[in-house]
Order: sequence, then C-alpha cells, then structure tokens
Amino acid sequence: MPAETVLQLLPTAAVLVDADDRVRLANGAALGMGIVHGTSIAVAELAQLVRAARRTSTTRVLELSLDSGGFPRRTLAVGARAQPLEDGEVALVVDDLTESRRVEAVRRDFVANVGHEIKTPVGALTLLTEAALGAGDDPDAVHHFLTRMQHEAQRLSRLVQELLDLSRLQGGEAPAETVDVAVDDVVEEAVDRARNAAEAKHIDIVRGGDSGLVVSGKESQLVTALCNLLDNAVAYSSEGTQIAVGVHARDQAVEIAVKDQGVGIADVDQERIFERFYRVDPARSRATGGTGLGLAIAKHIVSNHGGEIAVWSRPGAGSTFTIRLPAEAP
Ligand SMILES: Nc1ncnc2c1ncn2[C@@H]1O[C@H](COP(=O)(O)OP(=O)(O)OP(=O)(O)O)[C@@H](O)[C@H]1O
Ligand SMILES: [Mg+2]
Repeated sequence: MPAETVLQLLPTAAVLVDADDRVRLANGAALGMGIVHGTSIAVAELAQLVRAARRTSTTRVLELSLDSGGFPRRTLAVGARAQPLEDGEVALVVDDLTESRRVEAVRRDFVANVGHEIKTPVGALTLLTEAALGAGDDPDAVHHFLTRMQHEAQRLSRLVQELLDLSRLQGGEAPAETVDVAVDDVVEEAVDRARNAAEAKHIDIVRGGDSGLVVSGKESQLVTALCNLLDNAVAYSSEGTQIAVGVHARDQAVEIAVKDQGVGIADVDQERIFERFYRVDPARSRATGGTGLGLAIAKHIVSNHGGEIAVWSRPGAGSTFTIRLPAEAP
C-alpha cells in the first residue's frame, strides 16, 4: 500500500494503536526509537498518552526524553502527539528533537559568550570616558585615556567584524562561485599581511615546499584562514623566533603548514582551541587583543572548502597548524 511506504520513509515515528492498546502499525522510525516492542508500546509515558487521548477524545502532546538503550547509549529528546481516531484507535507520532535542542543550547551559550565579550571593552570605554572627563585640564592624561579608548574601540569593532564573518561562514554552504585558486597567491597575501606584526617582534617568516599547486574555493576566505594561523604564530611566539610556512602536495590534497617556535599548547587545550571564544590564557590573550575567534573562523573556512585543519603542539617547543584542502589539477 503506497501510504504505508510513505510512512516507512518518514523520519517521524508513526504508530497506530487499536482500542485494546495493540499496535496495528509502526514505521521504521518508531522501531528505531525503541517506542514499539512487539505489539505494544514500550514506553510507559507514551502508552499513558495514548490512553489519555482515547479517554478524553482530545489530542494530547508531551515532550520527554527517551533512552535508546543499546550501545553507544543515546538519549533522545522527543515530542509526542497522540490523536484519537474512530473506534478507539489512536495515532501516535513522535519527532526526534535532539538536534534542534542541541542547536538551541549552542545558540544560548553563544549569545551569553558574545554578551560577555562585548561587556569587557564597553565597560572599559565607560571607565576611560569618565577618566578623560575627570582629567580635563591635564592634556597628557587626556591624550593617554583617549589612546586607550581608541584601542578598546578598535577591539570592539574587530570583534563585531569577526562575529559577522563567522555567522556568514556558518551558513555552511560551500563558498559561492568557487574558482581555481593558486596556493602560492594565498600564501603570499597572508604572509604579506602578517609581516608588520612579525617585524615588530623581529620574527622571520620563511616559506618553503612545493609551488604551483591549485585548490578550488574562494581566495579571500583562504587568505583569512591562513592569516589567522599566522597571526597566532606571531602573537604566541617570543621575539627573534622563526615561523615557517610550508606547502606540500600529498595524495589528493594540498597541505599548508604553519610552524612556530612559540609557547606551544598543552594537550587538554588542543582539543578546545577551535571552539569560539576559547583562549588558553585569557589574560595573555586580552593583552594581545585576542577574542578567541581566529581559529573558529579558520576551521569554518577550511571545512566549507571540504578540507580539515589539524594541530600538533608541545608546550615550550612550538606549534604546527596544518590546513589540508582537496587538490585541483593545476
Ligand atoms: N600558534 C599558537 N601557539 C600557541 N598558542 C596558540 C597558537 N594558536 C592559538 N593558540 C591558542 O589558542 C587560542 C585560540 O586561538 P584563536 O586564534 O582562536 O583566538 P585568539 O588568538 O585568542 O583571538 P583572535 O580571535 O584574535 O584570533 C589562543 O588564545 C591561544 O591560547
Ligand atoms: Mg588568533
């Protein structure tokens, strides 16, 4: 029967229960969620929901969590709806809400984090304004406070810009109008942008490896990703050290590695540095003006390009960040 075939294909669990609480029909999703066992409803709350709908002749809804049993153990957040039909029959549909609940939670965290990050520079601006007003007849002091206000304002606008970039990238769609991009150009542009900061710390950036490689995507985004890695390499290294940018063709991929001789990253932090706003040492990062978004942005760009980003690091010995992208025939 075509209707039953359609039911089988639905991601929503659908169950038909007769007047004696026997399951007459259950689709694949219902079995997958463990709602039905043999000819009965296996979850007590759902069985009650069905009886309540029949008894009151009204639609009943309920949200609950289901333990799928098995291994690995999964807990599902589901929304159930029991609809009375004729002759004591009841239709039960159950939607898996786990993913949307997870997304909501991420969004809530994100808003809280953003609020916190914006509060800091705004609070600083307020204090500095008061200080500048209070220092009315001391031009040196006024100049000092204004300089710091400028610094905080720049930080704030950089933060907002990064957030905008990130939300655009998180659309997840592959970059529109992908074109062939010469990896040499990406490296050249990114190194060029990092040069000022590097020179200020007497850090040498050397380039090596293969040339003439091509990837597919958006050049400006790839430059941003590599730039964020270079910015970090400069920010988290001491004066007079060296940074190496190496490009290599490996299997069907192009690897761009940024290797520094900086402070390095402990194992526990390596798992988290790609999260938004995660900073190993917030105090130190604040001094360098970091917001903890650079790597999150780099990761999104790389994954939107069908690639991946990896880190190798040891505290005291330095770090190597590697971007791997699918290679195009040159
Ligand atoms: N090359 C590196 N060497 C040592 N630590 C690093 C390196 N790259 C990143 N980290 C650590 O990872 C954290 C996250 O990096 P990320 O680039 O995402 O943020 P950020 O540099 O703090 O701020 P920004 O948003 O300005 O880039 C940093 O705060 C730093 O602690
Ligand atoms: Mg950074």
